[in-house]
Amino acid sequence: MTNAKPTRNLALELVRVTEAGALAAGRFMGRGAKEAADKAAVDAMRLVLNSIEMDAVVVIGEGEKDEAPMLFNGEKLGTGSAPAVDIAVDPINGTRPLADGFLNSIATVAIAPRGAMFNPGPFFYMDKIAVGPEAKGVIDINAPVIDNLIQIAKAKDMHVKDLTVVILHRPRHEKLVQDVRACGARIRLIPDGDVAGALMTAWPEAGIDVLMGIGGTPEGVLAACALRGMNGEIQGKLYARNATDKELGKQLGYDFDQVLTMDHLVASENVFFAATGITDGELLDGVKYYSHGARTVSLVIRGQTGTVREIISRHNFEKLNPISQVEY
Ligand code: FBP
Repeated sequence: MTNAKPTRNLALELVRVTEAGALAAGRFMGRGAKEAADKAAVDAMRLVLNSIEMDAVVVIGEGEKDEAPMLFNGEKLGTGSAPAVDIAVDPINGTRPLADGFLNSIATVAIAPRGAMFNPGPFFYMDKIAVGPEAKGVIDINAPVIDNLIQIAKAKDMHVKDLTVVILHRPRHEKLVQDVRACGARIRLIPDGDVAGALMTAWPEAGIDVLMGIGGTPEGVLAACALRGMNGEIQGKLYARNATDKELGKQLGYDFDQVLTMDHLVASENVFFAATGITDGELLDGVKYYSHGARTVSLVIRGQTGTVREIISRHNFEKLNPISQVEY
């Protein structure tokens, strides 16, 4: 116990950002318009981010991979006054599932003190392993799949056959899938959206024990910010797709063999994270529209205190639309 006074929880301001992104993007569910959905989410989120009292710079801006509209790396956001912070943002993690009307698409953003977030440079892919609180400290990204599963099962007082591993459904994961099957564990393949996949490991109701495999580096940093507050763990290793990546890595001083721990990915406990469901998923309900309004469900996480809030909001479009620059 100290005499310290409660301090500002920026995550409670960030949730307005992800709610705005989800409400704007939610209109595009199943409409086959990835770019338009991304643009709607980016525009809505930028608007709210710029209203927050902070001097923020985007370190992890999503979009470079597929040339989608984005909050770009280096972009300044906020009112310009203290605190000086880094931002990681993925306006729609799961653009494809949203466009096709599938599950687990979310709007996400995280904030950490300036300089605390890992800057992946041009390297988009990262090998990852993520777990929730019970298995924190027992994983090793360099160890064989079987060793990790045995350690996780032991830590959770379960059998390996009881474990569920979440893996992105990609041809590159054929061997990983075979290895997990050989151990007798269960697999949940997801078409996209490994931020939600990583968070599910720390969400008891989701029934997921570990995330494994190669996904986006931005998503790895975002997941690390959230897992700080959820008391979970993620380890990563930048993944070189080819010889050109390897050569570029050498020139820029990136080491593809380095294990990126929580401390490398986000070197501070003082992190804030928010996510709002766009389509339904294990983690969050998606946007539900009703007469003149909509309901959103969000996760709001503060690293320093470990408080994880679930926020259900009911938005009134009759009141919002006349005063908003974004049409909901
Ligand atoms: P978006 O944020 O662009 O929708 O990314 C979806 C996603 O599935 C991420 O969750 C994942 O990290 C990445 O794509 C994997 O990349 P790829 O589709 O190239 O395998």
